[in-house]
Amino acid sequence: MKRYLKRGFLKAGSWADEVFGPTLNPLSQLGALGFFFYWIVAASGIYLYIVFDTSVVGVYESIEYLTHDQWYLGGIMRSFHRYASDAMVLFMSLHILHEYSFDRYKGARAFSWFTGVPVLWLLYAAGISGYWLVWDELAQYIAIGTAEWLDWLPFFGEPVARNFLTPDAMDDRFFSLLIFMHIFLPLFLLFVLWLHITRISKPKINPPRILAFGMMAMMFVLSLVYPAISHDAADLAMVPGELRIDWFYLIIYPMLDKVPAGFMWALAIGGSIGLVGMALDPRFRRPGVAEVNLESCNGCERCMNDCPYAAISMERRTDGQPFAREPVVNASNCVGCGICVGACPTSMPFRTAAPLIPGIDLADRKLADLRGEIDALAAGEPPQVIAFNCQYNKSFASGVPDGVSLVSLPCIGMLPPPFIDYVLSRGKAKGVFLAGCGTSDCENRLGAQWSADRLARKRDPYLRARVPEERLEAFWPGSADPGGVRSALEGFTSRISAMPDLQQHKRDLKMGVRLPQDEAAEEVTP
Ligand code: HEM
Ligand code: SF4
Ligand code: SF4
Repeated sequence: MKRYLKRGFLKAGSWADEVFGPTLNPLSQLGALGFFFYWIVAASGIYLYIVFDTSVVGVYESIEYLTHDQWYLGGIMRSFHRYASDAMVLFMSLHILHEYSFDRYKGARAFSWFTGVPVLWLLYAAGISGYWLVWDELAQYIAIGTAEWLDWLPFFGEPVARNFLTPDAMDDRFFSLLIFMHIFLPLFLLFVLWLHITRISKPKINPPRILAFGMMAMMFVLSLVYPAISHDAADLAMVPGELRIDWFYLIIYPMLDKVPAGFMWALAIGGSIGLVGMALDPRFRRPGVAEVNLESCNGCERCMNDCPYAAISMERRTDGQPFAREPVVNASNCVGCGICVGACPTSMPFRTAAPLIPGIDLADRKLADLRGEIDALAAGEPPQVIAFNCQYNKSFASGVPDGVSLVSLPCIGMLPPPFIDYVLSRGKAKGVFLAGCGTSDCENRLGAQWSADRLARKRDPYLRARVPEERLEAFWPGSADPGGVRSALEGFTSRISAMPDLQQHKRDLKMGVRLPQDEAAEEVTP
């Protein structure tokens, strides 16, 4: 099922990429949209709170006034509050399915998954308490349903449902408690959401402005065409008539009518335990984490800045070298993507006299082995093209085009740009191809983006200017489009094959002669 779900997301993602463009693709902004709608709910909620009467007798009338007499502001605010809350559930559900289908919930990523579980409970509790506050027939139905559900638990001496048996049982004190809950729960939700992203660096919590405006415009139109309205006022002496259920929040209530309360508790608690259990899969093998080699490190902080999982902190230097700080890897946060290795200025393949020990390296994918692999590929007849492939891109599982040698990496962001220079300037191949896992949604969050920025010379470490552009191609789209990356590599290889041979290439580019300044730049010493 996971495989099909992932395929569905990739297909929908590449379709959305085409329609909206990679930066505005809502499917790569699911968490950010969740946050965005939270703020809409909060802002519209503040307006509603200021103007509505918080007593049990006055609340219904005050909401009616907002909805009908002040429809142009209060009514729209109410609709925004309702639809933004629904959108939170929608985007959160997609976000959960997305992270699940991409396997981003185990090992170092489990923390975000675990903290997502209370987010679910808090969001539902906050939403349901909001419906209750309107005190109309729907609220009455929810109040009685919730009370009966709670009464199944052995904690309450007095049955909670007794509060709703008679018309005057509901008093202002109980109602004030509800209002307090409806304010406190979203605030606590915000705190847990903050916790949820603490192990992620540069989390996407704000969607691009155009996408945000688009979402606002859609809600505005919806608010005018289909405004949020109340049912008739609650009357505990009457059975509510036909109700319009909000299926995003209130799905459990029609279910409670059909199945015993105990079963619903089992479903809710069992489901939550199941979610936690999924992340504790004993078969999951954690990849080798990043390790610091202080003797090569100059404390430049680039590894910390590029790590997508906040796994590196800079601490006071301990080895007596004349640098203020040193990186420290928190192994429990590290996903073993190697993006830090790609960021390190000491990840230099040219040093052949001394062993290749960069400032930071992966325990089970050493940079020296990567260079050894490249050297071995070029040992006999060098390939036309060396293609560096993200391990998540399965497009080449059945083989590569003729003339291509494939090197697999945990993330395309692990490849230090000097390795591209190394391949071309040392004649290890005539061309270099980079295949990432996806444009809009990199498996390691930031690997494809940092890699593209390094190649475009917008982010350190830059690709050196002497690397001939025509001999390098990068392809980011995901495995939803296997034909795309394959045909790009085939096209690139046939263009490269038509280019001068390696010796000629070196002469053309004046790379055959190693200039003293090149040597100096390549021999980076900490
Ligand atoms: C409205 C509720 C939620 C919001 C607003 C939200 C928001 C976010 C954001 C902004 C990120 C960082 C995304 C990025 O920059 O790559 C994130 C990551 C994550 N979320 Fe949520 N989230 C919510 C609920 C949940 C729930 C209920 C779960 C699962 C039970 C969940 C699971 C995860 C996981 C596993 C990650 C980490 C992904 C990774 O390691 O790459 N989230 N969330
Ligand atoms: S491998 Fe490096 S970049 Fe990736 S999570 Fe670990 S420390 Fe961060
Ligand atoms: S030299 Fe490398 S390991 Fe040291 S701080 Fe800079 S990027 Fe990190």
